[in-house]
Amino acid sequence: MKIVLAYSGGLDTSVVVKWLKETYGAEIITYAADVGQEEELKGLSAKARKTGASKHYTLNLVEEFARDYIYPMIRANTIYEGQYYLGTSIARPLIAKAQVEIARKEGADTVAHGATGKGNDQCRFELTYMALAPDLTIMAPWKMDNYRAEFPGRAEMIAYCKKHKIPVEASAKKPYSMDRNLLHISYEAGILEDPWFDPTTEENKGMFKLSVAPEDAPDKPEYVELDFEKGDCVRVNGKKLTPGKVLKTLNALGGKHGVGRVDIVENRFVGMKSRGVYETPGGTILMHGHRQVEALTMDRDVMHLRDELMPKYAKLIYNGFWFAPEREALQAFIDESQKFVTGTVRLKLYKGNVTTCGTKSKYSLYDENIASMEGVQSWYNQNDATGFIRLNGLRLRARYMGQGGPKQ
Ligand code: ARG
Ligand code: SIN
Repeated sequence: MKIVLAYSGGLDTSVVVKWLKETYGAEIITYAADVGQEEELKGLSAKARKTGASKHYTLNLVEEFARDYIYPMIRANTIYEGQYYLGTSIARPLIAKAQVEIARKEGADTVAHGATGKGNDQCRFELTYMALAPDLTIMAPWKMDNYRAEFPGRAEMIAYCKKHKIPVEASAKKPYSMDRNLLHISYEAGILEDPWFDPTTEENKGMFKLSVAPEDAPDKPEYVELDFEKGDCVRVNGKKLTPGKVLKTLNALGGKHGVGRVDIVENRFVGMKSRGVYETPGGTILMHGHRQVEALTMDRDVMHLRDELMPKYAKLIYNGFWFAPEREALQAFIDESQKFVTGTVRLKLYKGNVTTCGTKSKYSLYDENIASMEGVQSWYNQNDATGFIRLNGLRLRARYMGQGGPKQ
């Protein structure tokens, strides 16, 4: 058996490397993706080998993540259940895709991950493996009885590492779980499981890493100008940047002004509700700015159709169906809808808020002549409105005649 394992170097995946090797006599290749989590990835290769891996890969996927995953999602103003910007959800298919590619290159027969059997991440990893490499065996130790029997808790894992001389930092375990990448940080589990627990109080607010609290943000607002081309932000304050750099720049700006914090109870794919706290500073600014440029350049009915489909698209991403035919079909429509979403928006950041302060576009559909009350020469004739409303009101009149209308 030859296994490619998604590996972080933390306690959990360190134990898994050794355990898979010992229990199944397998060859283990570890793999870590850099998706902008800003963690030290340098020592990982040596650490993995010491733990028993035959080979290690660290791949820098930051630009691919921004360009081919985050940006396509922003084109649809995608938000799950009205609030969540999908920072973790959108990273998983990319991490799993690159893992499958390593498995192919190395002639491995198995892929393994360290997500639990209770969450969304297992779905995203495994659905991606199935879509891209259905012949590979999937191993998820947390869902295996023999693994759980051996490691009912952290103490057993630490003892196992000691026994096998596995290098693990004796870092104090945080009282919650964190997942960080270029788009966001998510916090959940542990003390956050009580939805009444407030992480923003003076004593708890140290949890947040990407943003200050709105009340601690500068008293002076800051302006930022974004240029969009075909729905993608290409310049920040006039400076051309790659998608990855756009996000980094806007994360810093938004974080400074307390933009993009969300605290929700969301519905997991597996059926349970879960409390999540998120910081998405750059993503929030991008999404807001993108919508403003759309407002100026997008046909009404295309926009409304896209807006109707967006919750469906968000759910596909949340549930792990990025590499699914219906997601790809929706993406084709979304991308087509963005052909003329080109223009500039000026935004003001102030104490957690993003406010629009102007938009312009060479493809603007907004016609001051049509909208203005003073318009003399235009395609809009006010007399047409009489018949327009009369026909629209026809069935309302019929209802009144036939059913006596609404009770007065
Ligand atoms: N609830 C979020 C989601 O499902 C965040 C998941 C965080 N994952 C983690 N391994 N900490 O997308
Ligand atoms: C996990 O359970 O592995 C993390 C949380 C999630 O996937 O939703």
